[in-house]
Amino acid sequence: MPLIQWNEQISVGIDQFDNDHKYLITLLNSLFDGINAGRGPQSLAYILEELLEYTETHFAREEAEMQRLGYPDFDSHKAQHDMLTGRVYDIQRQVAAGASSALSKEAVEFLNNWLVGHIQGTDKGYMPFFAAHGVR
Ligand SMILES: [Fe+2]
Repeated sequence: MPLIQWNEQISVGIDQFDNDHKYLITLLNSLFDGINAGRGPQSLAYILEELLEYTETHFAREEAEMQRLGYPDFDSHKAQHDMLTGRVYDIQRQVAAGASSALSKEAVEFLNNWLVGHIQGTDKGYMPFFAAHGVR
């Protein structure tokens, strides 16, 4: 049973970013389902790695577009991105150091809640700005 499915309510109106969000949610669901199925962190490490890489890829894409167009709330938006990336790094580092409990259902739920909250709050904040600049 997945944590959440992407749905139109969390669309930010830009295809690339919506697709990125869908994929990040898919990865979080895969982690959550894996933990629920009793798989250990070793067998989920590649998903965690992909989550980290794609989170960075996606955030960099959003940030590049904001900077290109001079988005006024760039700094606070980027600070949120850095905070989540740091959280995923922490989990990965702890798992690599043998703290397998760092990759828990609660940790994945936290990341998921954070991501969805970020999309619905902070990301939606850029919709009128990007729309006014013709980004779709
Ligand atoms: Fe964002």
